[in-house]
Amino acid sequence: MLPTRQEAERLLLEAEKCNIGTWGDHSRVAAHCAESIAKLCEDLDPEKAYILGLLHDIGRKFGVRHLGHVSDGYSYMMSLSYDEVGRVCLTHSFNNLKVEEYIGNVDTSDEEYELIVSGLASITLDEYDRLIQLCDALAGSEGVLNIEDRMNDVKRRYGNFPQVKWDSNMWLKDYFEKKIGMDIYEAVDKDNYRPERGE
Ligand SMILES: [Fe+2]
Repeated sequence: MLPTRQEAERLLLEAEKCNIGTWGDHSRVAAHCAESIAKLCEDLDPEKAYILGLLHDIGRKFGVRHLGHVSDGYSYMMSLSYDEVGRVCLTHSFNNLKVEEYIGNVDTSDEEYELIVSGLASITLDEYDRLIQLCDALAGSEGVLNIEDRMNDVKRRYGNFPQVKWDSNMWLKDYFEKKIGMDIYEAVDKDNYRPERGE
């Protein structure tokens, strides 16, 4: 099940009040990218793509955590029966469905870690999972970024960026560009789009 677009926007605004930061606008940019790309794909629903993009980081509501934001988001969305969002809270950080590929601190309890591992084991990635992984890699908080610039920024902040993750993000960009028959930055109007808070 999915929340409506309006409910998803409300959930994000409410969550931002609990943990003020740039992650809300990053989520809006990811939602914009997901919706724009999905509009160009016959097999994807732009509304669903927008909602998933908007809520993929909703676990940040519960504070500044690294891997913990994945289990927080998953548990929160499942508690509201929004299982389609819960799934993306899990999959967005793992292009290859392996918890070891997480870039950042493993700051989860044993139970949370196990929740992530068992959740990932039960999933086969679908087109929405792949779309949100790509859009997460394109979304800055002030607008759409060049995917390589964004990965280099993460590399600077965390000290490393695994080559396998780098390659899989580049693969995703190429995959969706072939699917839509268009440059990804053109599809998301990179040069002009800026996020707006919907208050
Ligand atoms: Fe994100």
